[in-house]
Amino acid sequence: MTKRFRTETLALHASRKVDPVTGAVSPPLYLSTTFQRDADGGYSTGFEYIRDGHPNREMLERTLAALEFGTDAIAFSSGTAASLAVFQSIGRGHIIATHDAYHGTLHQLADLVAGWGTEISFVDTTSLAEVTHAIRDDTRLLWIETPSNPLLRVSDIAALHELIHGRNIALAVDNTIATPIMQQPLALGADIVVHSSTKYIGGHSDVAGGVVVGRDHPILESARNYLVRAGAVPSAFDCWLMQRSIATLPLRARLHAENALALAHFLDQHDSVTQVDYPGLSTHPDHTVAARQMNGFGGVLSFRVNGGEAEAMRVAACVRLFIRATSLGGVESLIEHRASVEGPDSHAPANLLRLSVGIENVDDLITDLSHALDAISS
Ligand SMILES: Cc1ncc(COP(=O)(O)O)c(C=O)c1O
Repeated sequence: MTKRFRTETLALHASRKVDPVTGAVSPPLYLSTTFQRDADGGYSTGFEYIRDGHPNREMLERTLAALEFGTDAIAFSSGTAASLAVFQSIGRGHIIATHDAYHGTLHQLADLVAGWGTEISFVDTTSLAEVTHAIRDDTRLLWIETPSNPLLRVSDIAALHELIHGRNIALAVDNTIATPIMQQPLALGADIVVHSSTKYIGGHSDVAGGVVVGRDHPILESARNYLVRAGAVPSAFDCWLMQRSIATLPLRARLHAENALALAHFLDQHDSVTQVDYPGLSTHPDHTVAARQMNGFGGVLSFRVNGGEAEAMRVAACVRLFIRATSLGGVESLIEHRASVEGPDSHAPANLLRLSVGIENVDDLITDLSHALDAISS
C-alpha cells in the first residue's frame, strides 16, 4: 500500500483498516498491556507485552515509516528518548553534531552521551568544509538538525550524504521542524530520521512522543532493542492520539508554513526588527538549499528586535494572541525568548524571539505582532 499512494493518502490510510469485528471506522484503542498466549504457548497475534509491541504503537509505527519512506519506525515516549536511542547505538565512536541544535539535544550529548566515553564534535553542519575537517577514523554518526533551532539554518542532506559516503558513518536527521510533509531525509540519502512527535506530528500540544525511522539500517535494530530494554514506550492512548493527528498533518504543515512565510515577510519589513531567521526568505543564507530539499519552509521562525533582551521581553509581554510558552508545532501560535529559556550557556542572541506559527488567521497574527512591536518603536 505504501508505494501506491501519495503523502496525504498515506497519512490517513497507511495503517488504518476498518475493524473486522465491529466495523468501527476509527481505529480501536487497546488499553491492554498484556496479550493471551496460544494453547501451544505461542503468540500468534504477534503481541505479548506492551514494551515488546502493542497494536496501537504498531499502527503508528507503520504510518510513520510510510510517511518517511522508511522500512521501519520505532515510536518512543518522547523525542529525547528517541535521540538517545540513536546515540547509544554508536557505542564509543565519535559523533559530529549540528551546533545549532535543540538545546536539550546538545545537553543530552554533552551531559549524558559524552559520559559513556563517546566523543562529540559540535560543528556548523551547513558548512561542508567544517564537517570534512571534523571527520575522524572513528566517526560513526553525523547528527544534523535541519532546519535548526533556533537559528533555522539548513544543512544540505544530499551533499552531506555524498561527503560521508563509503566511510561507515551514519547520517541521522532531526526532522522535527520540517515535518515528514516538508522534507523526506531518507529520500535524500540520510540513514535515520528522528522526530520529536510532541511537536507537529502530535500537533495539538497535548501528547508527547518521539520516533526513529530508517531503511534497513542496523541502528533500527539497536534502537528497538533500546526501546524494549530501557522501557521508554509511549502509552496506547498517546499512540492513538498521534495516529489521529497524523491524518491532518499534511493540511496543518502546509498552513503553518504558509502563515510563517507571511509573518516572515511582514517582520522583514518592520523598522523594529533587525533580522528575520527563516529559510523561506530569499535573503536567508541557506534559502537555495532549503528551496531544493524542502517542500515548503516550515512553521518556525526567529526574529531579532532592535535592542537587547529587555526589548525582546517587552515584545513577548505585549502579544495577546501568541502564547508565551516553550515548544513548537501545535495548532496555536507560541512566542518564546530562547536565550532566557535555555539559560547561561545559550547561544541564542539576547534580542531573538522564536515563533511557532500556528494555524490562526494570518492577518490576526500579523496584527498581534504589529501591536506588540509598537511597544518598542521609537
Ligand atoms: C528539534 C527538536 N528535537 C527534539 C526535541 C525533544 O523532544 P521532546 O521534548 O519530545 O523530548 C525538541 C523539543 O523541543 C525539539 O525542538
